[in-house]
Amino acid sequence: MRLGIAADHGGLELKKRLLSDLRAMGHEMVDFGAYEPDPDDDYPDFVAPLALAVSKGEVERGVAICGSGVGACIAANKAPGVRAGLIMDMFSAHQGVEDDDMNLICLGGRVIGYELAKDLVHEFLKARFKGEERFRRRLQKVRDLETREIEQ
Ligand code: RB5
Repeated sequence: MRLGIAADHGGLELKKRLLSDLRAMGHEMVDFGAYEPDPDDDYPDFVAPLALAVSKGEVERGVAICGSGVGACIAANKAPGVRAGLIMDMFSAHQGVEDDDMNLICLGGRVIGYELAKDLVHEFLKARFKGEERFRRRLQKVRDLETREIEQ
């Protein structure tokens, strides 16, 4: 798969290890940074370009990492067509794809260890959207939120 990966300083170490692991598995990896540790860097600067690449289909799926995974997930979900989830358990790693067509996994580099992160990403990548009518209907309702006018 052609995949994108991004992290701020809170996720940089985990990103480095996952990047080499995913490359070794044969995935084509696009690295959106950060490339150097900088405690003053900001997760949207790395996660937004990754999320837009997922949005535009330039990468098939994405992995975004910050300290908790929360900021990365908030930022990623602002890109149209991105369905990002903050994942910490194996069930959600595959069910999020199967039912919700999750296309971007967010991880907390200060919350989970490398072995669990690796297993979660593998589970996410193996999973496929089931495509059943009820799942498509729910996703259409989610898509509708992206274009909805907000009444003040
Ligand atoms: C950075 O220190 C930290 O706030 C960030 O990585 C992330 O946890 C935000 O959600």
